[in-house]
Amino acid sequence: MDRVRPPSHGMDKGPAMTPDATFLHAFHAAHPGATSAALGHWQIDDTGRSSYDLLADFLITEAADEVAMDLGCGDGALVEKILAADGGPLAVIGVDASPDELRKAKKRLRKQAVLHHGIAHYLPTPSEELAGVGCHMALMLMQPIEEVVAEIARVLMPGGVLGAVVTTSTTVEPSLQAFIAQLKGLPEDQRRPRPALGDPRTRSAEGLHALLAPHFSRIEITEHALWTEGSAESLWASLSLTYDVFALTEAGRTALEASFKASVGEGTTRCGHGVLMVRAWK
Ligand SMILES: C[S@@+](CC[C@H](N)C(=O)[O-])C[C@H]1O[C@@H](n2cnc3c(N)ncnc32)[C@H](O)[C@@H]1O
Repeated sequence: MDRVRPPSHGMDKGPAMTPDATFLHAFHAAHPGATSAALGHWQIDDTGRSSYDLLADFLITEAADEVAMDLGCGDGALVEKILAADGGPLAVIGVDASPDELRKAKKRLRKQAVLHHGIAHYLPTPSEELAGVGCHMALMLMQPIEEVVAEIARVLMPGGVLGAVVTTSTTVEPSLQAFIAQLKGLPEDQRRPRPALGDPRTRSAEGLHALLAPHFSRIEITEHALWTEGSAESLWASLSLTYDVFALTEAGRTALEASFKASVGEGTTRCGHGVLMVRAWK
């Protein structure tokens, strides 16, 4: 049955903003396009291709000649890649809770843009309409996750696919381990409150299997390294665009930048962490 969007809540501006939604809203208003700027040049394993390419390839194949959605589309980087390919979906709808990200996406995609300001557990789409839903670095932020997964399954046609890239913390490069340790070592007065963000089950293969199994008949989850190599300056340019750094005071940010750059030193260093690529067929 099709659903009607309820009154403003979740990540919309409004009286019932959750702490997660308030934090995400503020971050993406301050740094629209941060994710593609930070991670667009990082590569998956030794493929020389980005995590956006990995996910785009899946949707281009699985949703060819049909309509797909990019859920949590941010500034439209994934939508742009899918639409630039030969073949692939006829149209890609971008949905995001952040009006600031959508403004950037609109500029990037121009006339190709089909964008909706909305939240993941009430999608603006009739049931069984889509051949594919993609979600790059966003599923692990979405709550309540059972409702989000059920909503994704609702809008997918039988045999339709969910493709998602999420962060997992099982493998973390030493330079990033140092960054995390330095962050945790900052004094309390250099940090502002930051909600935990999202549901931890979305960050492990076991948790994702359990969440997806009620709605999807076939699930494949593979783990990959997402990494880059660069100078202290260029690594900091990516890491400074994280939710963790946003939650620091100016003094905390300055201290972390100095300690991170000192720990990396001269020359180039590898930096990165594990990601899970989810492929699920309804
Ligand atoms: C880390 S960013 C990733 C953006 C984009 N997918 C990319 O990889 O460049 C997460 C995005 O998900 C959106 N988001 C988070 N929770 C959401 C929700 N419940 N419904 C819709 N969008 C959401 C945020 O506004 C943000 O644009």
